[in-house]
Amino acid sequence: MCGIVAYLGPKPAFPILIDGLKRLEYRGYDSAGVAVIESTKTEPAKLVIRKKKGKVKDLLSHVGKEKLTGNVGIGHTRWATHGPPNDVNAHPHRASKGRIAIIHNGIIENYAALRETLDQRGHALLSDTDSEVLVHLIEEIMLGSELSLFDAVRSALKQVVGAYAIVVIDREHPDRLIAARKSSPLVIGMGEDGAFYVASDATPIIPYTKNVVYLEDEEVAALDINEGLRIRTISNVAIAPEVHALEIELEAIEKAGYEHFMLKEIFEQPRSIRDSIRGRINLPLGEIKMGGIDDHWDRWQNASRILILGCGTSWHAGLVAEYLLEEFTRIPVEVEYASEFRYRNPIIHPDDVVIAISQSGETADTLAAIKTAKEAGAHVFGVCNVVGSSIAREAESGAYTHAGPEIGVASTKAFTSQIAVLSMIALHVGFKKGCLPRERFLRLLTELNGIPELVEGVLKQADYIDTIASKFENAENALYLGRGYQFPVALEGALKLKEISYIHAEGYPAAEMKHGPIALIDDDMPVIFIATKDDVYEKVVSNIQEVKARGGKLIAIVTEGDTEAANLADHVIEIPRCVDSLAPLLSVVPLQLLSYRIAVLRGCDVDQPRNLAKSVTVE
Ligand code: G6P
Repeated sequence: MCGIVAYLGPKPAFPILIDGLKRLEYRGYDSAGVAVIESTKTEPAKLVIRKKKGKVKDLLSHVGKEKLTGNVGIGHTRWATHGPPNDVNAHPHRASKGRIAIIHNGIIENYAALRETLDQRGHALLSDTDSEVLVHLIEEIMLGSELSLFDAVRSALKQVVGAYAIVVIDREHPDRLIAARKSSPLVIGMGEDGAFYVASDATPIIPYTKNVVYLEDEEVAALDINEGLRIRTISNVAIAPEVHALEIELEAIEKAGYEHFMLKEIFEQPRSIRDSIRGRINLPLGEIKMGGIDDHWDRWQNASRILILGCGTSWHAGLVAEYLLEEFTRIPVEVEYASEFRYRNPIIHPDDVVIAISQSGETADTLAAIKTAKEAGAHVFGVCNVVGSSIAREAESGAYTHAGPEIGVASTKAFTSQIAVLSMIALHVGFKKGCLPRERFLRLLTELNGIPELVEGVLKQADYIDTIASKFENAENALYLGRGYQFPVALEGALKLKEISYIHAEGYPAAEMKHGPIALIDDDMPVIFIATKDDVYEKVVSNIQEVKARGGKLIAIVTEGDTEAANLADHVIEIPRCVDSLAPLLSVVPLQLLSYRIAVLRGCDVDQPRNLAKSVTVE
């Protein structure tokens, strides 16, 4: 949520900041802004700020032909929390004396009290944001004492309650950047030419360097062209920077000729699922390797319950996992929205295993929920995509999904990779616990191993799915229905449609339809059934009949060769036959494609749907 980028080095900062902001835009796109320090030999240094409501392209038109020079700068793309998206509330924010500027991601919870004090002391705050408070506070501390900017930042942060990732620049020190974080991620890139890059995730850094330092909570970093990188905690304990090598390649964060990141990511799924299972499934030996589970086997073996926490699409993957884990491990499972779990005084047993599912690994509610679970003694296992993310680090063990960077705001390949990993967890634990006979285990393993190829087959129908999409681009509502393993897929299909096309859509268990949603069905209502040949197929066919009798427009996702459900539907999409428990990996793909094409036909901004953000680091 909100993207932060900063540069200090030998090159002009502005183009690097703009490039970084474009890569970070998926985190928020309500406004964008940059600040650079322009200095010449003859004139005093100038702190130049340009910011604009809207996207990075709007900022660029605002800057127009103006040449922003300077080798140090900060940039921000905003997802509004405090104050509406407008030019004034856009970052960077400058303090009263015009010397320092800040970019901030997170929420300063005690900003109202801090602001009142600053107002009383004569600071003229211009915006409605919590972030501006921070820059005034830092300036007041710095100018009212002998403290350096670094120490003034440390001192100001001691007064702050809430979450922050900040970068501060000082007109009087164009050779320096100060960065700090708490509960909002920040990565520092170390260029070979001595340049420093700071960003809220690695995507803007990847084109320039692979060497990064992850800032930890309550750490403040001074990046200095002459003195290098220095890190201290806000309570002034020195920290030795640990340099990590990024494994992401530049191509992974480019569109590679696709019209949108979302489409590229949908088409990447055979590869991303393969990467999720690679090195874990060993068919010749007939085993699954999951070190995160084996190293803590006593916790899994003795778990009286598995609690799954997540938000959005990750929560849907959690619902699929509930079916998988209960079927194969016979351990009772509960799935909760992380945001609800935190605030309802939940009962947590020390023998619970908690699975936290998160693509970004930064979702504030999921992070806070696992902290609560850990405090109560539960064992926390993370299923995250972003390596080194906060949830991955907070969890005691885990398994990365290895889907590669997901840039489209609507999650696609992350979902299928999560299901692939969760399937392996269920199979591995079930087999180890003796709940799953070897023969069935091996059969399931072989089927899972073959899923990427089957997904490739489903993707070949993209053009055909486009023709179906063209019939529904003007729909105002849609209903997605499925049962058993396909119920969470119905929820995910509906979420995809509403996120990117703004068509109201609901996912429902097919049998529940008659307790309410059936009242909505008329000639104009598209109803998407996931009616694959599984244990509940016959029941779903009856539900299809019920909708047909009331005139709904039917799209059915069916198993190859099916005639019964297919004959009832107006439009049919076939997916290959596979075992019930893995079918979500196939059935969700046409739903992703359908939503994508409908959104494109409606002229929606598919990769950056209104009001949403990829990584939700506020509660
Ligand atoms: C946001 C994203 C969703 C995502 C959800 C949870 O709402 O737009 O695509 O499913 O956050 O994110 P996480 O990173 O925890 O999976």
